[in-house]
Amino acid sequence: MALEEITLENLIPEEFIKEKIQEISSIAGDDFAINALSGGVDSSTVTMLGDRALGNRLLTYFVDNGLMRENEPKHIVSLFNGLGIYVELIDAKDIFFNGLKGLTDPEKKREKGITQPFYKEVFGKLVKKTGAKYLLQGTNYIDIEETVAGVKRQHNVFEQIGINPEQAFGYKIIEPLIQLRKPAIRKVAEYLSLPEEIYNRQPFPGPALAIRVIGEVTPEKIEIVRKATKIVEEIIENESLDPKPFQYLAILHEDKITGIRNGKRDFGNQIEVRCWNSKDAATASPTILHHNTLLKLSRRITTEVPGVVSVTYNITEKPTSTIEAI
Ligand code: XMP
Repeated sequence: MALEEITLENLIPEEFIKEKIQEISSIAGDDFAINALSGGVDSSTVTMLGDRALGNRLLTYFVDNGLMRENEPKHIVSLFNGLGIYVELIDAKDIFFNGLKGLTDPEKKREKGITQPFYKEVFGKLVKKTGAKYLLQGTNYIDIEETVAGVKRQHNVFEQIGINPEQAFGYKIIEPLIQLRKPAIRKVAEYLSLPEEIYNRQPFPGPALAIRVIGEVTPEKIEIVRKATKIVEEIIENESLDPKPFQYLAILHEDKITGIRNGKRDFGNQIEVRCWNSKDAATASPTILHHNTLLKLSRRITTEVPGVVSVTYNITEKPTSTIEAI
């Protein structure tokens, strides 16, 4: 059966929330579910719905895959603990970096480097350890739309492309948000009393910074892209742009390029900055940034991120570009 979208216009948040809480508790029955919180608006919304539906039969984990933005794991864990939801931080950095080793093809990086470590190694073990039968996750309408259309295989889509999670990983998956796009999810998040810092947050993909590194992903490359990301976020957020850009990010290119440092040739890294205006990620256009903002970005990134000699700004729309790099 085709997936039916619930548009922002048709969404009645109170009813949606009531329905999803009932749905989660009737599916899970007396069983436990594990919950994958990443701190993005989708997984945060699912966490609140799951908490209301299952209470302490919901076991919430934040998986530190080593690919997160600076300080993200601790910040999100303490934010949710402050909301009364206990979150356990799982250190899975080695699992992900081992899984990503040697992979350069975008789809293989997603499948072997991200999906398998998440669903087989991390969640598979957690399910065995806890006896949980379900994984609750924040897959949304665009994740499914893009995967089914063959744009990209989003890391969290299975049934729609013929993969049975129970057979593949040993547990069933509950996805309360699959009929919603981002603006509708933000509305539900607001009604669930999540803080504005969460419901107005820019999207951040499950595969995290790994899909912002072209070529093989290593801890060193992630550190470069992490530092550049922090600068991009600080500068763009400080500009108070109207409308607020949908998403802004840094990408580390594989090719090196000649630059000059201390009067000598420095064959270094290239960072590409992207800043998008979009409603729901299906299409997007580059934000028109002031030249001074672009200069600020390039000066700070080349000064503060070791090894970077060149910064570019993406001026392509989606399509043909996509929001992320791979
Ligand atoms: P693209 O790059 O396809 O991104 O234009 C569209 C939106 O989806 C996010 N994205 C992902 N989110 N798993 C996710 O959870 C993924 O594998 C994934 N790939 C892209 C991206 O950040 C943007 O908001």
